[in-house]
Amino acid sequence: MLEGPFMRVPTGIPGFDELIEGGFIEDDVILLTGGPGAGKSTFGIQYLYEGVTRYNEPGVYVTFDESPARIMRNMWRHNWDLERLIKENKLRIIRADPLKYSRYIKRSMVNERADAEEMTLEGVLNQIYQNVQKIGAKRLFIDSLTTLKISRDPVDIRFILLEFIKNIEGLYCTTLISSENKSGSDTFNVEEYLAEGVISLNVSRIGGEKMRSIEILKMRGVKHDESIHPYMITDSGIVIDPHGSLLGQKADVFRTTPQKKEHIDEFR
Ligand SMILES: Nc1ncnc2c1ncn2[C@@H]1O[C@H](COP(=O)(O)OP(=O)(O)OP(=O)(O)O)[C@@H](O)[C@H]1O
Ligand SMILES: [Mg+2]
Repeated sequence: MLEGPFMRVPTGIPGFDELIEGGFIEDDVILLTGGPGAGKSTFGIQYLYEGVTRYNEPGVYVTFDESPARIMRNMWRHNWDLERLIKENKLRIIRADPLKYSRYIKRSMVNERADAEEMTLEGVLNQIYQNVQKIGAKRLFIDSLTTLKISRDPVDIRFILLEFIKNIEGLYCTTLISSENKSGSDTFNVEEYLAEGVISLNVSRIGGEKMRSIEILKMRGVKHDESIHPYMITDSGIVIDPHGSLLGQKADVFRTTPQKKEHIDEFR
């Protein structure tokens, strides 16, 4: 961690930390938004993996969507041996089952008691708390918040997310929470107002080619970069080009297409 008025927590993701003065502010809760396949899970797991292997900070990964086995298999693609970190007690992966959770919500609406603790939001929070305590986790990644939005009532959703985020803040971990958004949407979700910071991962098409870009929408208390930067998902994970700007690349596309390709290859 870096010295300063606040302790900083570097992600270790190439090209990212320099966009936020070296790292997240310790214990903050940061939202990571993006559409399907944007790289939210990869970003979050890389943050945990670097935390253990480079900064000696244990981490907990909470997955609502994918099974831990599938996650471990997919992350082999980047040569991240999560199983080893789990054996060394430096990493925990928790599966929070959204189906069980949705049953609880339906029951609570008709005032029926949930019969098992893990069916409640409180149960999930307890499970996270216990795992954080057991390995002394400093980093937490929750993937994804969207699963908790199972009510049609926006007031219900706001209440659930507020309760969840407030409780997570009380764990004193530097936390990333992923959240799905529709690409190109101009409206903001309630969680984007609640979190201390919001990172947005976008996938767009320029001239028939897939372009990935990252933007820091907000980071309270941090003088953060204001530009939109290209990033790639490679065999070694996410790599951000902190000096390239997507606007510059758009301009290139309008002049000559081959130039754009070369520019991307430069930071491979
Ligand atoms: N080695 C690699 N090289 C290039 N791209 C890769 C590599 N490994 C994975 N990818 C890309 O990463 C993407 C998956 O990223 P990830 O699962 O982190 O996205 P996500 O935002 O969590 O998606 P979802 O919303 O579906 O959960 C895939 O679309 C895949 O194309
Ligand atoms: Mg994902």
